Amino acid sequence: MKGVILAGGLGTRLHPLTLITNKHLLPIYNKPMILYPLETLRQSGLKEIMIVCGKEHGGDFMNFLGSGKEYGVKFSFALQDGPGGIAEALGLAENFADKGKIAVILGDNLFEESFSEEVEKFKSQDGAKVFVKEVNDPGRFGVAEVKGDRIVSIEEKPHKPKSNYAVTGFYLYNFDVFNKIKRLKPSERGELEITDVHTMYIQEGNLSYAFIDSFWSDAGTFESLLTASNRAAERMKNSNP
Ligand code: DAU
Repeated sequence: MKGVILAGGLGTRLHPLTLITNKHLLPIYNKPMILYPLETLRQSGLKEIMIVCGKEHGGDFMNFLGSGKEYGVKFSFALQDGPGGIAEALGLAENFADKGKIAVILGDNLFEESFSEEVEKFKSQDGAKVFVKEVNDPGRFGVAEVKGDRIVSIEEKPHKPKSNYAVTGFYLYNFDVFNKIKRLKPSERGELEITDVHTMYIQEGNLSYAFIDSFWSDAGTFESLLTASNRAAERMKNSNP
């Protein structure tokens, strides 16, 4: 299976930090943000990785990441012309996926667990799989309504969340995700929404999920960026006492 890191978008919630620098190149403690999702994919056994980024920053990402040799992986790059949404960014990886299944991670999502077992299991499964985490502020995320072993709905940033279960930014898809993306219409905020893709899988009865027990954070707001940095500093201190 191949992996994709989505690192487009404008990062407007982090202005003025992101006026010149891409969000995913900002520091999380001692490393640029993008190295965290890269490590998650690597540890999950994914070695062929596409980075999708905004066209203004393509050079920065290539300059910083290089071929992938330093990380024991092989990078491909795709440019997104504007911030048309997570699903639009993923659509750019269709040729790269080469008819196969793919693992996708949002460039501002930080996990402390590897998905290696899930990736292995998914090789013999169909549909799509998402990973949910109980949070205190679900209204900031895609929110899953869970009934038994199924997700029955996902709402993007709801005013009245139906649960505390945020859909995190690590996803596993069969190749049909690209057909689904082609059928999407832009949302009210003008983006192709990944939540709408997941709703299509729900309607087909083809979306599975698992809970995440370990730490998870995004880093797209000042507060979550600080939380993520503090957490990384803490982990560093504990591993080098
Ligand atoms: O962090 C998890 C959440 O991420 C999910 O719970 C939501 O369902 C999902 O929509 C997303 O919500 P955000 O509003 O936080 O997404 P954001 O616009 O910050 O984009 C997250 C990453 O996706 C960003 O770091 C880079 C990538 N992206 C985003 C956009 C809008 C792209 O590659 N291209 C884009 O056009």
